[in-house]
Amino acid sequence: NTGRFTFDPGFTSTAACESKITYIDGDQGVLLHRGYPIEQLAEQSSFLEVAYLLLNGELPNQKEHDEFRYLITRHTMVHEQLATFYRGFRRDAHPMAIMCGVVGALSAFYHDSTDIHDPQQRTIACHRLIAKMPTIAAMAYKYSVGQPFLYPDNSLSYTGNFLRMTFGVPAEPYVINPVVEDALDKIFILHADHEQNASTSTVRLAGSSGANPFACIAAGIACLWGPAHGGANEAALEMLREIGRPERIPEFVARAKNKDDPFRLMGFGHRVYKNYDPRAKVLGEAATKVLDTLGISDPVLDTARELERVALSDDYFIEKKLYPNVDFYSGIILSAIGFPTSMFTALFALARTTGWIAQWTEMMEDKEQKIGRPRQLYTGHGPRDYVPLAQRG
Ligand code: SDX
Repeated sequence: NTGRFTFDPGFTSTAACESKITYIDGDQGVLLHRGYPIEQLAEQSSFLEVAYLLLNGELPNQKEHDEFRYLITRHTMVHEQLATFYRGFRRDAHPMAIMCGVVGALSAFYHDSTDIHDPQQRTIACHRLIAKMPTIAAMAYKYSVGQPFLYPDNSLSYTGNFLRMTFGVPAEPYVINPVVEDALDKIFILHADHEQNASTSTVRLAGSSGANPFACIAAGIACLWGPAHGGANEAALEMLREIGRPERIPEFVARAKNKDDPFRLMGFGHRVYKNYDPRAKVLGEAATKVLDTLGISDPVLDTARELERVALSDDYFIEKKLYPNVDFYSGIILSAIGFPTSMFTALFALARTTGWIAQWTEMMEDKEQKIGRPRQLYTGHGPRDYVPLAQRG
């Protein structure tokens, strides 16, 4: 008798929520967005088209696509006062710290799209978030390197606009490399939505309280930052760089298998996938193509390939069904494009914002929706009387 008090909570756990947006079969390694396989979307679609699909349930025709592109591009600029907001951060602030702060503050700048009971305001808030995340992320990068912010250029593609705001400078024209633009757009597609992962569940829980959409997305950004979740892409590349040479792989694999060592192979394993993450497959192929096309030979890619080979032939990883996930190869491509590792999770947040708002919108349109209230199994003390301080041993 440990004095632990347990009681019948009188409830059984129920499924988290119903959704029509994304389907995952973790055993088969299947990922569908509104029924379309992620592999086909990554190869044939564009991020803006996938954003339309996630939000509206169908792929757009040409008129719908052009209309959506206009609705998004007209919101790409941010309030000039927001630039002042950035100047309050230290230059070495992590971009995710800036993204949490700036996105959470958007409701202070866009009051006319915070009434969650007004469908039109909800729609404008969603368009603003999709449109402004590239600008906000690019500004976070520019601020960290001490370069001036660039305004959006809406004649460019969604991803091309982001590349120019990030890597362009006022002193000279910025030429977009189509291979880089295509690779980054593919990365955005692969990160757009993923059913009820930790950060999406955070956005839904925040939204269920009636919080404004900007605050809900800021909550999602905060949750995504964790190294067990979206922060893994930054941690995975740092791990691969630390391994350095294929000869050191056994040492790291041994550490990952050691229960007494908190080290985990970053970019490996998944709460749902017990097979190869289909996104990792696409990213693994893209990594080779991008580095070859850019003429970059990064030994980290060889290390990643060898680590995958060794792990996938190791009984521990086979038995526990641990495979590379979306974060294993993405950082190699992002680094080849020129992003510092500190920006990797901010890019994940940029792309996942589309999934978050599609899921938030789906919940807000559910008239039966109630505030989320996870229950608990109480395992603490049973009822007992207060003991005055003078009588305590
Ligand atoms: C993302 O949910 C989503 O959909 C998330 C995401 C999305 O798109 O939103 O897919 C994005 O977050 C991908 C995951 C990124 N995180 C990492 O790569 C960090 C490294 N991975 C681990 O921390 C881990 O795999 C988790 C957190 C992702 C999952 O951990 P779980 O729930 O413990 O995994 P599990 O139950 O399948 O683990 C089974 C066993 C456990 O050991 P035992 O308790 O059985 O002894 O395998 C071990 C785990 O400890 N294990 C690992 C491991 N991952 C799990 N051992 C070594 N290295 C690893 N990477």
